[in-house]
Amino acid sequence: MGKRKQKSDEIQETDQVLGHDPFEDMDMGWIDGEEGALSVEVLGRDPFEDMDMDWVMREREELFPGLAQEEVEEVKVAFDETRAEPVPSAVEEFTLEQVVVEELPLERATAEVEPLVQPKPLEPLRAGLPTGVAPAKASMPAATFHFPADFKWGVATAAHQVEGNNVHNDWWAWEQADGHIKKGHVSGLACNWWENAEADFDRAAEMGLNALRLSVEWSRIEPRPGVFDDSALERYSQMLWGLRERNIEPMVTLHHFTNPLWLVEQGGWEVPETVALFARFVRRVVEALGQHCNLWCTVNEPNVYGYMGYLEGVFPPGQSDQKKAMRVIRHLLAGHAAAYREIHALQPHARVGLAHNMRIFDPVNPRSPLDRRVARMTDKFYNQAILTALARGRWTLPLGFGLAWKLRRTLDWIGLNYYTRDLVAFDRTQGQALFGSRLHASDAELLDGGYGEFYPRGMFRCLQRLARLGLPIYITENGIPDDDDDQRPRYLLTHLHQVWRAIQVCYPVMGYYHWTLVDNFEWAEGWTLRFGLIALNPKTQDRTPRRSAALYAEVTQANAITPHIIDTYARELRAELLPG
Ligand code: FCB
Repeated sequence: MGKRKQKSDEIQETDQVLGHDPFEDMDMGWIDGEEGALSVEVLGRDPFEDMDMDWVMREREELFPGLAQEEVEEVKVAFDETRAEPVPSAVEEFTLEQVVVEELPLERATAEVEPLVQPKPLEPLRAGLPTGVAPAKASMPAATFHFPADFKWGVATAAHQVEGNNVHNDWWAWEQADGHIKKGHVSGLACNWWENAEADFDRAAEMGLNALRLSVEWSRIEPRPGVFDDSALERYSQMLWGLRERNIEPMVTLHHFTNPLWLVEQGGWEVPETVALFARFVRRVVEALGQHCNLWCTVNEPNVYGYMGYLEGVFPPGQSDQKKAMRVIRHLLAGHAAAYREIHALQPHARVGLAHNMRIFDPVNPRSPLDRRVARMTDKFYNQAILTALARGRWTLPLGFGLAWKLRRTLDWIGLNYYTRDLVAFDRTQGQALFGSRLHASDAELLDGGYGEFYPRGMFRCLQRLARLGLPIYITENGIPDDDDDQRPRYLLTHLHQVWRAIQVCYPVMGYYHWTLVDNFEWAEGWTLRFGLIALNPKTQDRTPRRSAALYAEVTQANAITPHIIDTYARELRAELLPG
């Protein structure tokens, strides 16, 4: 048993950096039973009941190094008992190991597609790696960067940011109080999508887009606990149909930052009960919308939700409590896993993933061991812990310790939201931030509104890392706040060039969703940050396409970055992108 109690590398490292282990008294019991039992009450069954636990035996050596076979058997028995007896006793003693990302098999890639109504059948998950670059057309010069023939070109949005009048969720309430949103802005009518998303769908279709990511608003669909509004579901059904009529494939996000007020009143994501309530909501959504969609994104950016709402306090509920932040993220991941199983139970051919926000953290001084250490820790905390939980079924710091076995095999694809990088320097005054200060190099090009560094290579580096999961990858968000559009053309072309590079080395990148089509309500930044390819005047609802809209349209229509596009929109990139 000695080995079990041995400290893992990350715990030792945290001890060294922080001087203590902030999670030593963490109760992990809930994840291995509580929310299963709660699901039985809400859903009528435990979505995890038929889950295969044989992997514990198969990966015995790695999970429990040095542990005798009988002891491992004990673990399995403990898990089985967990199912009958919600709160386990022995579980949290195990598995304090290093972070390793495992290669997951693409077994779901072969899921069969059920025939669907016209105009175009929903697509299967593409099996294996990209089908390769399209053959060069005779008219195109050799230096053209081609994308795979079935590549998805999309834009991404979220319900609260575009629909308008989402009066029954926590963000609407948060906006009404002074000091929460820059300049006192409110979402108001937003982009008026609830009334007329179709006008913007037309614009997307004119640009030649074949994909669009949007989210559904829980507070509209379930305005009171357990009471579902069919007219809201009907409106979403109409929107999805509208997309498919335009040959645009919808990706539906099921949770993108907002919650119904009734859910928040009963504890929101701070309490395990929400996992089952989310699964019930998801089931209803998939029953209603599954005929128009089989590409689902369960949860958007659990790390951003937890950090912004519960550490930095700039999103509702505006708290600063590290333990709560981590509990919230764990619940969101459990919600993801429960949703995954609900969706697959209803729609076996579904393609289900999650959008993960990744930032690059590099040491300010790569020769300083302290800078390197805090950069590595920041990376593990922000980027890696969630991936390890999902890919390995294992909690690591800062999320906790022990097995997160219900998270395993709950991804058919992984979504990357990439925007920028931070340089990190050791700073003994920053105890709350792992003793790291975030900086930018003096010669770095910065994005508007303090949004970070212009760093295209970060796109390739994130894709490289995600490729190790062995799953198809969608870039579910990438974009830039740039009202005057002086950086966006370069940002778009350089980031897409990195995507192209990733595809050349056979990373399975299936599509790119630019954030975003039309300027929209940017959370705590209000209307001060403009991410749209199309500018919006929220008062008049007038729309004015930026140059980048034409650029993106040309790229999607050519399915390539051509020298002509580079010359037309960002000639200064010629030397960098087309050397020689
Ligand atoms: C992401 C959010 C998205 C939008 C962009 C700019 O973190 O998912 O809603 O705010 O940032």
